[in-house]
Amino acid sequence: MAKSQVTMTVNGKAVEQLVEPRTLLIHFLREALNLTGPHIGCETSHCGACTVDLDGKSVKSCTVFAVQADGADILTIEGMANPDGTLHALQEGFREMHGLQCGFCTPGMITRAYRLLQENPNPSEAEIRIGISGNLCRCTGYQNIVKAIQFAAARLAGATFQEAAE
Ligand code: FES
Ligand code: FES
Repeated sequence: MAKSQVTMTVNGKAVEQLVEPRTLLIHFLREALNLTGPHIGCETSHCGACTVDLDGKSVKSCTVFAVQADGADILTIEGMANPDGTLHALQEGFREMHGLQCGFCTPGMITRAYRLLQENPNPSEAEIRIGISGNLCRCTGYQNIVKAIQFAAARLAGATFQEAAE
């Protein structure tokens, strides 16, 4: 099959590759670039495990062809840590608040939460739950994921997360 040239920026690095027109972005990231943080859960746009940030939007990379991302600026979980190598506040939040169990959903969940906090730095609990509603988690029951995102929002605002009394 004829291949097309694509160029994009992935986690701050310029990438130039030949791809088949049928190649999905998730396969391109995982197989051509060895970025295996974004996971493949359903390949039908339901689970959100494959979520990446593309030109300032959360996208499910199983629903995008690599050729459609030509020229795009993409962030995956591999690019989430701070430039000095310290964890992003969201990564810290998921660790501190036990926001994961098996971890399969976590890269997509954190990447989605990243865009959510860019758009709304101080979301309510309800806004967080709506914001991550495209990302499924089979393990946690979501409560600690919400807390992890609240932790990160507070940390990014220079504050300390106070858990609500139960
Ligand atoms: S693998 Fe893309 S939404 Fe499930
Ligand atoms: S931690 Fe297992 S699917 Fe979310």
